[in-house]
Amino acid sequence: MSVPADAGSEYEVVVGSGLLADVSQRLQPHLGSGPILMVADTTVHELYGKAMANALTTAGHHCVELVIEPGEASKRRSVAASLQDQAIAAGADRDSRVIALGGGVPGDLGGYLAATLLRGLPWIQVPTSLLAMVDSSVGGKTGVDTAAGKNLVGAFWHPQVVLADVEALGTLADAELASGLAEVIKYGVTLEGQLFADLEDGLLESVMARVPEAVALVVERCVAIKAAVVAEDAREANRRQVLNFGHTVGHGIEVAMNYTLRHGEAVAIGMVMEARLSEQRLGGAADLAERITALCARADLPVALPDGVGVDAVVEGARHDKKNQAGQPRCVLVQEFGCVVPHEGNWSHPVTVEELQRVLGE
Ligand SMILES: NC(=O)c1ccc[n+]([C@@H]2O[C@H](COP(=O)([O-])OP(=O)(O)OC[C@H]3O[C@@H](n4cnc5c(N)ncnc54)[C@H](O)[C@@H]3O)[C@@H](O)[C@H]2O)c1
Ligand SMILES: [Zn+2]
Repeated sequence: MSVPADAGSEYEVVVGSGLLADVSQRLQPHLGSGPILMVADTTVHELYGKAMANALTTAGHHCVELVIEPGEASKRRSVAASLQDQAIAAGADRDSRVIALGGGVPGDLGGYLAATLLRGLPWIQVPTSLLAMVDSSVGGKTGVDTAAGKNLVGAFWHPQVVLADVEALGTLADAELASGLAEVIKYGVTLEGQLFADLEDGLLESVMARVPEAVALVVERCVAIKAAVVAEDAREANRRQVLNFGHTVGHGIEVAMNYTLRHGEAVAIGMVMEARLSEQRLGGAADLAERITALCARADLPVALPDGVGVDAVVEGARHDKKNQAGQPRCVLVQEFGCVVPHEGNWSHPVTVEELQRVLGE
């Protein structure tokens, strides 16, 4: 499937089962003669990175394995600086390619390395988490977190190709799979009502059971949905905002809980709350919040604020979301499944603190 990049160019997202088995042949057309810089966390490196490095070495490449600790804490400037230094010391040159192997963390960090090293190297994404396959590997956003917040430093830098082997999800922890499912559900709520209905009809359980055909189908549909949105709005000026459904409240929850919930878990709760807000504001489908709650619960995602998390702390976190304008929280609102409603030419609506408090307190 082709996905739009900058200046009218595009790249392929290849989705399939067993792609990693012949990864060096598949990547060969995209590789140069310089050292390959492979970024992976220790878990994914052990599971897939070593074999990939061996295959690339056998094919005659010099593969530099840049291994980071798993988790969001690795997505910071000091780690990026260390990777840049290691890459330069290993002889990285203009014919080098970066391969980001793993979830969204090695993806964002590897992409940032590619964007910054030698003023930009071509790179390849090999996503291994569901979240990375359906979300972070499409759209060209790369970057790191700072003490002031997530993803505050980075660049738009599209990969040359994305290789999503759904077989890799076989080793992904259930909770990580569920976190990715929250984004899948989000696409169904906001942009493709039929996807939501299919998930309700049992597609959700097939993905949870990691049936390869079902997972590949879902990943392909999500990539197509995100690609279409990105095509309309490469730099997140407007249309991309629809992808933030559930994310204003979700971000507030992440901040209030000091990022102890997984992103998708916070988004699941956020979707339930923003669906309530949608019902109250727009008076559309009355079963919106109810059906989202039921589907998220089936995916083993949380659907209510965890005990001990204060409504005020969540609202405060939501108010400081970087997507807001002038301290006023904004939310994407949905009329019915697959139908997001714009407001004064904008895909998000200003909401009041009182409205947020009300839906969070229900
Ligand atoms: N660039 C974007 O557009 C974009 C979009 C959404 C999210 N993100 C970013 O993505 C990150 C979250 O992504 P994530 O949830 O994939 O995080 P992650 O990369 O930390 O992966 C989650 C966990 O799963 C493990 N893992 C990954 N693949 C595995 C596999 N196949 N088998 C076993 N374990 C595996 C990892 O080791 C890690 O412990 C966040 O930093 C977020 O900001 C970026
Ligand atoms: Zn998200």
